[in-house]
Amino acid sequence: MKKFINISDIKDYKSLVNETIDLKNNPNKFNNIGKNKVLGLIFFNPSLRTRLSTQKAALQLGMKTLNMNFINEGWQIEFEDHVIMSGNKAEHVKEAAKVISQYCDIIGIRAFASLNNRVNDHKDIVLNSFVDHSTVPVLNMESSIAHPLQALADSITIEENKKSLKPKVVLTWAPHPKALPHAVANSFINMSKRNDYELVITNPEGYNLNPEITKGIKVLHDQKEAFKNADFIYAKNWSSYDNYGKILINDDSWMINEDKMNLTNNAQFMHCLPVRRNVVVSDSVIDSNNSLIIQQADNRTYAAQIILKKLINNEK
Ligand code: CP
Repeated sequence: MKKFINISDIKDYKSLVNETIDLKNNPNKFNNIGKNKVLGLIFFNPSLRTRLSTQKAALQLGMKTLNMNFINEGWQIEFEDHVIMSGNKAEHVKEAAKVISQYCDIIGIRAFASLNNRVNDHKDIVLNSFVDHSTVPVLNMESSIAHPLQALADSITIEENKKSLKPKVVLTWAPHPKALPHAVANSFINMSKRNDYELVITNPEGYNLNPEITKGIKVLHDQKEAFKNADFIYAKNWSSYDNYGKILINDDSWMINEDKMNLTNNAQFMHCLPVRRNVVVSDSVIDSNNSLIIQQADNRTYAAQIILKKLINNEK
C-alpha cells in the first residue's frame, strides 16, 4: 500500500479486518518494523482520538512521531497553482510537502471540509495536494470526504460484537448545533459495502448524502421504521449535502433515546466521538451496557497500526 486515502485503497477488506483483530490480541507483534522511521502527524483541525491513537499505533511499531498543529503553529499554506502569494499565505504546499517528506517516512494529514463549496470539498484539495507533492506515503486522518481509519475501527467493532452473520446496521442522522462534514458517514457506508451487513440509512428529508455513495443502499426518512430489528445503531450528524453545509433542523426529534432503542433487536449503540450528550444521544443510551463507543475508540489504535504496517512494508 503506497497511500491510505480511502477504503478503496484496501484490496482484501475481510482479511485486513481479521489481521487487525489478530494484531489487537498481540499489539507488540511487529514492534520493530518501524524502527528508525518517523511518522509526521499534520493537523489542520482539532483531534483527540486520531492524534493519540495514531501516535500510539506508531509507537507500538517502534516508530517515532512528529506532530504539528497547522491551525495555530504553522504558516498558512497556499494550495492553488500559479497564484501571486501577496496575501496571508506564506508557504506553498509544493514546498511544505517536500520539506516534511524529508523529515518523515509517512505523513498523516487531517483536513476537514470547508462546507462552503461542495465542488472544492469533493476535490479534497489539502489531502490530495500532499499526496501529489509528498515523496513519502500519505495517511488520511480525516479529510473533506473520507475518514477511513474510523471506518476500519468501526468494522472491527461490529465484527467483535455481531451476533449474526449478516447484522442489520442502521446509520442514523442525529441532531447537532454545528454544521458537520460528511466524511465519517461516507466512509462508514463505503466500509459497509465491503462487509456482509444489511445497511439501512435513515435521515430527515433534505439530509440525503452524496447519491454516488448511497447508490444501492436503502434510505428511509422514518427513523423509527428504520430502527425496527436493528442490531447496530450508528449515530452521526451531517449537514445537508443538497443545500450544502446548511443546518435544516434545530429540534431534538431525531435524537437517539431509549424509546427508539427499544424498537431495535436489542441493538448496540455506536458513535465515532466526540459526541454531544443529550443532543445527539441521551445519557441513558450512551451509558448503557449496549454502548460500544469506548471500544470503537480503542480500535482506532489497531486500525492505524495495521495501516501503518502496510504503508511501511508497502504490503497490499
Ligand atoms: N473520531 C475521531 O476522529 O475523533 P477525533 O476527531 O477526536 O480525532
